Order: sequence, then C-alpha cells, then structure tokens
Amino acid sequence: MGRLLFVCLGNICRSPAADGVARQMVAREGLDWTIDSAGTGAWHAGEPPDPRMIEAAAARGIDLTPLRARQAVTEDFQRFDHIFAMDHRNYEDLAAIRPSGTGADLHLFLETAEVPDPYYGGDQGFEQVLDLIQDRMEIVFQTLKVR
Ligand code: 4NP
Repeated sequence: MGRLLFVCLGNICRSPAADGVARQMVAREGLDWTIDSAGTGAWHAGEPPDPRMIEAAAARGIDLTPLRARQAVTEDFQRFDHIFAMDHRNYEDLAAIRPSGTGADLHLFLETAEVPDPYYGGDQGFEQVLDLIQDRMEIVFQTLKVR
C-alpha cells in the first residue's frame, strides 16, 4: 500500500522536501498514494517549511507552501505503511515511540547514509538535500510499485 511518511527533526527542512518530492511524483505517475511528513521534535509545529527550502524546491517546480510542521506520534505507525527517517537520530527517536506488534515498517531513507541537516548551513546544503532526496525517491517508488 502507498501511505508514506517522511520524518526529520524539525519537519521544516528535510522531511517537507521529501514530502513535496513524493507528492510531485505521485501526481506525475497518477498514483493513489498518501504522502505526509513530520518531525520528531515539536519546536516548529504549525510553522511552514524553512523559507530557504521553500525557495529551493520552488525552483524545481515543487510547492511546499501548503505544508505545516507537526510532531510524529505513535499513531503514525497505524496511519502509514512505510515511515522513512532522514538520519539515524530520527530513526532511533521513531523506534522509541513505535508500538509493539503490527504497524508501518521503519526505514532509514537513504538506507546506508543520512540526509544531512541543512538548517545551520548555506544555500548549497538545501540543493544537496533536494538532489539526494530526488535520486532516492525514484528508487523508493520503483520498489514500492512492484510490491
Ligand atoms: P529539519 O532541520 O530536521 O530538516 O527540519 C531542522 C530544523 C530545525 C532545527 C533543526 C533541524 N532546529 O533545531 O530548530
């Protein structure tokens, strides 16, 4: 099934970018999938994505302005089929609220690497994050579509 949740720390940089990239691909491929994003932290809850990420995504035809940050919760493991953490800390924080028994599977989005946090860096970091996310998302979609 196609219910995908992308999770980072603040839900204002990396996971909204993944959210927007996935939504663009869902529209492009005409899929009936649910896409959302969340943060393990609540500091930015209710806020739109970082303006630097909004701008970088807009240059790639992706509109992040409707998105609002929220904190990941245990119920997300029932509401989604696949949850993707952007870095190891996000993964561990999600594993700590994961209910026992059934529920979404949990992955490190890049499997063998982390999506670097661009928050305290320059504009180049936002481009790098989008490059990593767009490349990986093609593989994720190919993998899930054949299941
Ligand atoms: P994100 O980036 O996890 O990719 O959304 C961050 C955003 C905010 C903070 C850290 C990372 N912060 O500490 O406020």
